[in-house]
Amino acid sequence: MSIVAVVGLQWGDEGKGKITDVLASGSDLVVRFQGGANAGHTLVVGDKIIRSHLIPSGILYPKTISVIGPGCVFDPEIFEKELNTLKDLKVKTGKILISNRAHVVFPYHKYFDGIKEEYLGKNAIGTTKMGIGPCYSDKVNRIGITIGDIVSGTDLKPLLQNSLDEKNFMIKSRYNKKQINIKDMLNWIDKYRELIRKFTGNAYELVNDYASRGKKILFEGAQGTFLDLDWGTYPFVTSSNTVAGNIYIGGGLSPKYKVNVLGIVKAYSTRVGNGPFPGELNDEISELIRDKGKEFGATTGRPRRCGWINLDLLKFAVLMNGVTSIALTKLDVLSCLDKIGVITEPKKGINKKVPNTFLETNDMQIEYLNGWDISIDNIRTFKDLPKNSREYIKYIEKVLGVPASIISLGAQRKKYIMRKEIW
Ligand code: GDP
Ligand code: IMO
Ligand code: MG
Repeated sequence: MSIVAVVGLQWGDEGKGKITDVLASGSDLVVRFQGGANAGHTLVVGDKIIRSHLIPSGILYPKTISVIGPGCVFDPEIFEKELNTLKDLKVKTGKILISNRAHVVFPYHKYFDGIKEEYLGKNAIGTTKMGIGPCYSDKVNRIGITIGDIVSGTDLKPLLQNSLDEKNFMIKSRYNKKQINIKDMLNWIDKYRELIRKFTGNAYELVNDYASRGKKILFEGAQGTFLDLDWGTYPFVTSSNTVAGNIYIGGGLSPKYKVNVLGIVKAYSTRVGNGPFPGELNDEISELIRDKGKEFGATTGRPRRCGWINLDLLKFAVLMNGVTSIALTKLDVLSCLDKIGVITEPKKGINKKVPNTFLETNDMQIEYLNGWDISIDNIRTFKDLPKNSREYIKYIEKVLGVPASIISLGAQRKKYIMRKEIW
């Protein structure tokens, strides 16, 4: 198979960036198909730590083209920053193509995100405040501004006026905050127009041309299944579809192409931001996992909430994404624990077709598997792993009904075991 989708099966931060970076060495294209700079994907190469928010994680390979697809929301400020960081690090980067259909995140989207969250107080979503929700809302509301609008010389004034009139009304009457000035926004976008123009193109043509020629395409998901707008823990979700089906819409790939779906699963669970988190731990184990796994948000620096792996939810994620195999990440973090918890089927029958009910936590069942007492990050073959860690992997494979083709054992690019070729 020459097309692979890498998607998160939990609440984001599963290690999608690392796995994409590993697989991108053989890819012709790496395509982001949803989300924006709310993503924080970490790549560790030698002594360099690179955090990408908007630019796809294939960027470190000179032969790979990185595509910011039509389903993404594009923040020019972050884009420029990321380009400069890559230059400073003196990494040879590949080419970048931004879809003319992607929507632009303006400073007013971030401002609106911030004041809305502040207004919601204890009911806030806990967003990254990167303007993601307001930008996608404008898109759905048909008052958004696209990359095509920016580079084609479209008169932005009436478009902005239309969008800002509504927002300023809300800002004044509901939030009682400073209103947005249209001139500031016109000046702001002027600063980025030429930079954006250099990279803009028709992404769907490239994607489908490469697909038709059997070139290797990697779709890089952001966030995770339980942050999906339709399938996550609504309303505590992000504002796009994170599941693999969206590669056809947000990535612009024709549905005639079949793909392999690699689900990225952290060996335990984390969540950053508010909302239901069945199996959340608030004890010395969660602190240990947070410290050892460095579980702090790559975008906001917030401490991530931690808990055991939730196989019951993961079964749903495997189905909803059409997962063909998983990459199990951060198994090294669980080394030296006596017992490792796994959340399995709830005791009582729960109607899984209704997400709100399957996230009820009171019927959770936890089983404990034996841990292993040596560190495993330098192991490179499955058979060399301690028996109990192999048992843990096999248990997960059995419940989920899919193989673990990659076992990731450290943040560094080379720290993994490849059990089965992905392509
Ligand atoms: P993403 O958003 O899914 O790309 O994940 P993040 O980059 O936000 O968070 C994953 C974190 O775990 C990053 O700090 C990675 O460098 C790190 N990481 C990825 N895989 C592994 C692994 O197998 N073991 C360890 N210890 N760290 C890992
Ligand atoms: P990656 O790609 C983890 C969470 C936020 C918040 C909710 C909505 O690194 O896995 P938003 O700013 O999107 O409107 O916030 O989604 N969130 C993430 N959590 N990893 C991410 O991305 C996330 N992107 C958004 O914390 O709960
Ligand atoms: Mg992340």
